[in-house]
Amino acid sequence: MLDNFNRKINYLRISVTDRCNLRCTYCMPEEGIDSISHKDVLSFEEIIEFTKVAVSLGVNKVRFTGGEPLARKGCVELVQMIASINGIEDLSMTTNGTMLDKYAMQLKDAGLNRVNISLDSIDPAKYKSITRCGELEDVFRGIEAARQAGLLPIKINCVIKESPNEAEAQNVKRWGEENGLEVRFIEEMDIEKGQFGVVHGGEGGDCANCNRLRLTSNGFILPCLFSDISINIREMDYKTALSKALEQKPACGLHGSSNKFYSIGG
Ligand code: 5AD
Ligand code: SF4
Repeated sequence: MLDNFNRKINYLRISVTDRCNLRCTYCMPEEGIDSISHKDVLSFEEIIEFTKVAVSLGVNKVRFTGGEPLARKGCVELVQMIASINGIEDLSMTTNGTMLDKYAMQLKDAGLNRVNISLDSIDPAKYKSITRCGELEDVFRGIEAARQAGLLPIKINCVIKESPNEAEAQNVKRWGEENGLEVRFIEEMDIEKGQFGVVHGGEGGDCANCNRLRLTSNGFILPCLFSDISINIREMDYKTALSKALEQKPACGLHGSSNKFYSIGG
């Protein structure tokens, strides 16, 4: 699939739920969110059918995001069904890692290739205050389980407030080096203010080379994180929805998008 700016679109990020077991301060209000009602959430059948069409048009890289993807019941089965689609070369998941101890091996068996794990601090008290309720030990156990299961390479996403040089970020980086894990810094974004955030060492935020589309858990394609353009896949056939998304994918993100991370998965 080529968009209007001749960018090859081969990467689909699927948000499987807007729910999460954590409440990271920069992502969610303390009281939680008004979750998308169950009847609006895409069924596994819808996600699979949509992904098949996207793959038939050239998508070969798929990532599961959330919210927290593992918070959705049956997530492993969904992974397995997506993994069985011919033509996907890279199948990954962005997760907070707190449930990987339980799911890593099942995910590997289901056909997942690798995981990105969100971790902003290696200090248990700071981790708890950032996530409002998370236990650092759960993440450490999850990372070990992912390693044992061979969900490699494991990448760590670390949200930074000011700069990659801040102490918290440097501690995570050093710990990553000691443990053979690639740590990438993500600038905290205030999406209400429409600020761009750069993933240091990642491929997001580079509009000229952007290769991705997002599918939200309630069935909208977002051609760009920094735009309010969205296409409801339930209002037309999936091929038409995809070509509309390509047509409308902006050359570069506009400021002032009102998208929220828990509904789009970053
Ligand atoms: N700014 C930057 N990154 C964010 N994430 C969630 N909210 C924000 C924000 N406001 C990140 C998480 C995780 C990924 C799913 O999105 O840390 O790595
Ligand atoms: Fe959950 Fe990730 Fe949002 Fe934290 S940033 S509340 S782990 S979805």
